[in-house]
Amino acid sequence: MCGIVAYIGPNQAYPVVINGLKRLEYRGYDSAGVAIFKDEILTVKEKGKVAELEAICTQNDISGHLGIGHTRWATHGEPNQVNAHPHTSQNGMFTLVHNGIIENFSTLRDRLYQRGYSFQSETDTEVLVTLIEDIADNGKLAFADAVRAALAEVIGAYAIVVISKDHPESIVAARKGSPLVVGIGKERGEFIFASDATPIVEYTNRVIYLNDGEVAEVNREELVITTVDNVIQTPYIQELKMELEQLEKGGFEHFMLKEIFEQPKSIFDSFRGRFDSENGEFMMRSIKEYKDKLEGINRLIIVGCGTSWHAGLVAEYLFEDLARIPVEVEYASEFRYRNPVIYSDDLVLAISQSGETADTLAAMELAKNKGATVFGICNVVGSSIPRMSHAGAYTHAGPEIGVASTKAFTAQVTVLTLMALALANLRDQMSQDEVREVLTALEAIPAKIEECLELDAQIQEIAKEYHKAKNFLYLGRGYNFPVALEGALKLKEISYIHAEGYPAAEMKHGPIALIDEEMPVVFLATKGANYEKVVSNVQEVKARKGKIIALASHNDPHLEASVDHIIRVPETSECLSPLLNTIPLQLLSYHIAVLRECNVDQPRNLAKSVTVE
Ligand code: G6P
Repeated sequence: MCGIVAYIGPNQAYPVVINGLKRLEYRGYDSAGVAIFKDEILTVKEKGKVAELEAICTQNDISGHLGIGHTRWATHGEPNQVNAHPHTSQNGMFTLVHNGIIENFSTLRDRLYQRGYSFQSETDTEVLVTLIEDIADNGKLAFADAVRAALAEVIGAYAIVVISKDHPESIVAARKGSPLVVGIGKERGEFIFASDATPIVEYTNRVIYLNDGEVAEVNREELVITTVDNVIQTPYIQELKMELEQLEKGGFEHFMLKEIFEQPKSIFDSFRGRFDSENGEFMMRSIKEYKDKLEGINRLIIVGCGTSWHAGLVAEYLFEDLARIPVEVEYASEFRYRNPVIYSDDLVLAISQSGETADTLAAMELAKNKGATVFGICNVVGSSIPRMSHAGAYTHAGPEIGVASTKAFTAQVTVLTLMALALANLRDQMSQDEVREVLTALEAIPAKIEECLELDAQIQEIAKEYHKAKNFLYLGRGYNFPVALEGALKLKEISYIHAEGYPAAEMKHGPIALIDEEMPVVFLATKGANYEKVVSNVQEVKARKGKIIALASHNDPHLEASVDHIIRVPETSECLSPLLNTIPLQLLSYHIAVLRECNVDQPRNLAKSVTVE
């Protein structure tokens, strides 16, 4: 949510900043801006996408060796040029970009009003930069000291980068609750700051992930990290494992399509080296290290948001069915505010692609404070959720750029399947043969996903028939009920068609009233324990003239006569069926959104990483 990038060093700042903003655009794209320091600070900002900002910047002399940039997802104040970042303090001394929310901004603003300041924008960010000016002027404080003193008064979440017109050789950045990474450039005195590592990787692979409450100051080519209280910290320099080509579209029209087609590989990467199917053994560090604890847990609480919450729902079926552990799946944003009962023998599992979702982080913190063991399942290496977890597992799906999550979801489900199997093994709930059987089936999943991807042309044809629909219903049971929810969410997110996912049987208690010849209904009707029941639900929809698109198993000769379209998916063990059934639904949403001329990779109003509550 909002992307920040900044450069200081011997090279031109603008190209690094503008390219970085393009990489970070998935975090927000309603307005963007840059400030570049040459003889003075030149600020250019614009409503709309980074490309619109770039078009204006090319009309200016935008050279200089120090620059900051921002791409916005509006919180305080509508998306327009005035509210866009960077914001500059009243006397022009400080210019700042910010990601997060300053919760006490109205108190601070009132105080500053009383001291004679006025504001041009509606943003909390302008309040913060003005506070820095006020504190610097009053206390005659040095640049970084003034920033630290201002931050000490701030309640809320922030990642900020500040420059000062009196300090062309300095940059001050800080984080609390919103991510910030510092890349250590290859040249002396070269540093790149960004909300994640994607703008950095093409310049250096040496990075420092700032911790909450840390302030990074570059002054005359030296980087110093302190706390807000000015205690010097020893930075931990990490090596990035990311490849530049992972951040490109690689010949696909959209990142989303590329990421859908990457799933045979991303799923393989998510399980590679983590089990031995011949012996039914698991090589997962978190399971080994927490073996005693896991043997004794009484309950699993899963927290997440959006698509990650849907992965949690699949996990509910997996852990209860395979490992016989009671599971509760919670929206992180609800869990954290309802005084939940948490015991020390609970395992709390936080699921997140980005590792930065504010509500999920807060839910984890709450669970930790109540004494639970907290595991994280996360895609972005080095992000906040894995750092806050006692243990966990990365999903290794590679960077996901499309705002609508695809490969991260299937990688999450894969890792959760492994964890459920490992716990079933540990707690003697499955025989070695049963475990081996599922693991062998899992090894076959990447090839079966290739088969699902071959359905692309057929699904595109179906999309042509339904892309003007106003509503869609997705129905499934058991393991495939969460898949129905995820299918509906994908369609809503990128095509703006209203879609609902429902348990197929529950349809009779409401949604059936919506069904007429205008209503496309997608059924998850592959073979499984509830197959016959789903077939009955298909008949109920058919009787009311709904248009039925059914996902069915290859070897199902019956369904075809009852439905309008049949999409054949390969067979697998029922507990793995979400991994296959998700793929055609992703493709269906994608093609419908393309036909409706929607911005697939950057749907309106959404952001990939939601770092505000
Ligand atoms: C946003 C994204 C979703 C994502 C959700 C949770 O809403 O647009 O795609 O599922 O956040 O994000 P996380 O990074 O925690 O999985």
